[in-house]
Parts: sequence; C-alpha cells; structure tokens
Amino acid sequence: MVGDFLVLDDCRLVYFPKITDFRGNLSFIEENSQIPFQIKRVYYLYDVPSGATRGGHAHKGLQQIIIALSGSFDVLLDDGVTKRSFFLNRPHYGLYVSPGVWRELENFSSNSVALSLVSAVYDESDYIRDYEVFKKGVIDYGSK
Ligand code: TYD
Repeated sequence: MVGDFLVLDDCRLVYFPKITDFRGNLSFIEENSQIPFQIKRVYYLYDVPSGATRGGHAHKGLQQIIIALSGSFDVLLDDGVTKRSFFLNRPHYGLYVSPGVWRELENFSSNSVALSLVSAVYDESDYIRDYEVFKKGVIDYGSK
C-alpha cells in the first residue's frame, strides 16, 4: 500500500490475441500494445518439482507479466494489506504484477512453464526478499 492506494488494485489479468486454427492456436504479444511496459527481459521457470514454491519476494520498481505457457500454477499476490490468488492455466493470458507486491508461485502442475516478461534487466538490488522488511516498507509508505 502507498498512502491510501492499494497496489494490488493494479494487478490484473491481461488477455492476448488468440488466433484459433484447426492446426493449433496462436497468440502474440506486442510492445506498447498488450502490455503496459517495454519488455527488457524474458525468463522462464520449468522443471519445477511437485510441491515447490517460487517467488517469495517483491520488487521495488520491476513490472512483470507472468504467463502459464504450459501447465498451471497459482500466483499469490500480497500488497501488505490485501492478498489475492490467481490461477493461471492458459497461454493466451497473463497476470500483470506491479511493483511493491509480494508474490509466491505454487501448485505447479507437471511440465508447467511459467514465462515472465519484465520491465528491467536483472538487478538484485530491486528485490525485497525479506517479508518483514516488505511489511515494514508498506507500513512506512502507508504512514506518509
Ligand atoms: P529468483 O528471482 O529469486 O527466482 P523466482 O522468483 O522465480 O523463484 O531468482 C533465482 C536465482 O536466479 C537468483 O539467484 C537470481 C537468479 N536470476 C538471474 O540471474 N537472472 C534472472 O533474470 C532471474 C529472474 C534470476
């Protein structure tokens, strides 16, 4: 939360065009069209063992779209005040995650692939990996 503003309100599902075809479907993502930032990096999680959890951090400035390119998983979002869970299971939509939101990815199905499109190159200093530090930041922002 920043002031009276719940950051989680910004997080939403984003749908990509889907060209259906009896030979197989096709979706696409274009800069400045389907997503609200310039893509600087793409990474993907795969071979996730059953029961594993990924994420477990927030970002100070990074914006992200998470897509279940294959299989399914849950994304739990938490802005320090409100928590919300999204089930991703199709490759023609993704979840936009704004800065300042704690995220956990869990319940991965076998052979799932979690694709992330992000707004910056990798920078460890953009991460908040300690939940207590994250919560304290939320309280500090909220009290301003
Ligand atoms: P992390 O972002 O914590 O993974 P996740 O949130 O998806 O569970 O990253 C795990 C490790 O990989 C960490 O040591 C940083 C490194 N890493 C990179 O070097 N480049 C990247 O683009 C990403 C996403 C992670």
